[in-house]
Amino acid sequence: MKVALLGAGKTGGKVAELHKETIIFNSTNKPTVENLKSCDVVISFLAGPIFAEYIDLLIESNIPVVTGSTGFEWPSNINQTLKSKKLKWVRAHNFSLGMNIVKKMIEILSMSSELYPEAQYMIHDIHHTQKLDSPSGTALSWQDWLGKKAHISAERTGDVVGYHHLEMDSKQEKIKITHEAKDRAIFARGALWAADKILNDNDIEYGLTHFSDIVSKYLYKDQK
Ligand SMILES: NC(=O)c1ccc[n+]([C@@H]2O[C@H](COP(=O)([O-])OP(=O)(O)OC[C@H]3O[C@@H](n4cnc5c(N)ncnc54)[C@H](OP(=O)(O)O)[C@@H]3O)[C@@H](O)[C@H]2O)c1
Repeated sequence: MKVALLGAGKTGGKVAELHKETIIFNSTNKPTVENLKSCDVVISFLAGPIFAEYIDLLIESNIPVVTGSTGFEWPSNINQTLKSKKLKWVRAHNFSLGMNIVKKMIEILSMSSELYPEAQYMIHDIHHTQKLDSPSGTALSWQDWLGKKAHISAERTGDVVGYHHLEMDSKQEKIKITHEAKDRAIFARGALWAADKILNDNDIEYGLTHFSDIVSKYLYKDQK
């Protein structure tokens, strides 16, 4: 699998370390339709606003895309556009495979409102000081998975790779869920796993697919 890696900074750099058949594109070697041609799949760890500028070019290049870029708005019609061009793209705010186990835990916690109607929810993320979006895309995904309003706060300090924490606080009980990324390689590994799946798993449909949906399919395939 020949990977066109857009952005080989703190996170993308780990993709290049793990996967030798990689061509790096950055601010001095920018991607074009022509120079992407020889690649099987694009993996992006560009900052969101820069990735957004490349969306049209990536559609034109006609190859599958796995993107971890955060902090931008997708064009509202992106899913239909990709479907009509028979393209498979995968997105995630967080390519950690363990994050998908956390998703299941949060979905279970979300059911607690039946038992604790008065409970308060709070989500906190901590990341390195260079992270542009705040709160993190993952913190926003956690609120989506919870399916109810939470107080979200964020902290930017040192070189923290990624820390997310959720608390359900009721009068007599507290439930806490924490996910801590210890090494950026987890995101690179997840993105490469997704790249392999979009190239080889024919069940994945055309359009923009959430990484968590693909992981769930493999994690829970033996459950009824
Ligand atoms: N989904 C996930 O699992 C996950 C995990 C971690 C991070 N992220 C996200 O990934 C993104 C990147 O984070 P990071 O911390 O790795 O960033 P980073 O260290 O700042 O790296 C950014 C990269 O983008 C390149 N770049 C900048 N401008 C460019 C341009 N116009 N054209 C092509 N390349 C350009 C830079 O190249 P130069 O060095 O040449 O400037 C650099 O290689 C962020 O949105 C972050 O939130 C996602």
